[in-house]
Amino acid sequence: MIIAANLKTNLTRKQTAKYVDELESFLNKNKISQEVLVFPAASSLNAHSGKVVIGAQNAYATVNGAFTGETGKEHLDEFGINTILIGHSERRHILGESQEELIKKFNFYKELGFKIVYCIGEPLEIREAGHEPMMEYISAQYEGIDVSYENLIIAYEPVWAIGTGLTPTLEEIESIHKELKKKSSAPLLYGGSVKVTNAKDVLALDNVDGILVGSAALYVDHFCTMCEYAQSIENKN
Ligand code: PGA
Repeated sequence: MIIAANLKTNLTRKQTAKYVDELESFLNKNKISQEVLVFPAASSLNAHSGKVVIGAQNAYATVNGAFTGETGKEHLDEFGINTILIGHSERRHILGESQEELIKKFNFYKELGFKIVYCIGEPLEIREAGHEPMMEYISAQYEGIDVSYENLIIAYEPVWAIGTGLTPTLEEIESIHKELKKKSSAPLLYGGSVKVTNAKDVLALDNVDGILVGSAALYVDHFCTMCEYAQSIENKN
């Protein structure tokens, strides 16, 4: 399974280093063989070798150049980073990234062989409009994306569930994941208010290959527990 922590604009470089060290030793001590990804803030990126894979929350579709405020491939190379999050709802809805821009990023980092965690998900008003409009909205987020890319991971994160404490029911997650799996056989994560209290149930659902965790992942002990849940579920199967 894939257990991913999106640290967003939290944890300084020093705090992130401590976080990654604690997580790494937990995974080793508890023989956890799950794929564990951590996405720190850009200024907290650092090289790391071990079980924890460090990824970038964002980067521009360039090696380097005149793009004030942006991070290029060269800056990720410096830390041996070849994993990236693309299409997170905060980038789409707060930072205003369009599908066209995301496609550009996707293709650029795909060409470089990066592991891409590509996020999709609908806002509340679309969900409330009914199943068909919701699936149409989500389908549009697949447009221009190579769904058969071998290093692709998809994360379904309903926008209204992110950081709100609200989640779809387990049945709803299972049923939408079943539909999404028809669009791509890439590993499919669920994200949006995953916590220690619901992670086990979510991870146990059919067609859920892992979780993408924001707020609850800021507590390293909580995130470690979620990694442990994933391991115990996989051990049972
Ligand atoms: P959340 O965030 O766990 O705080 O809801 C998830 C995400 O944004 O990936």
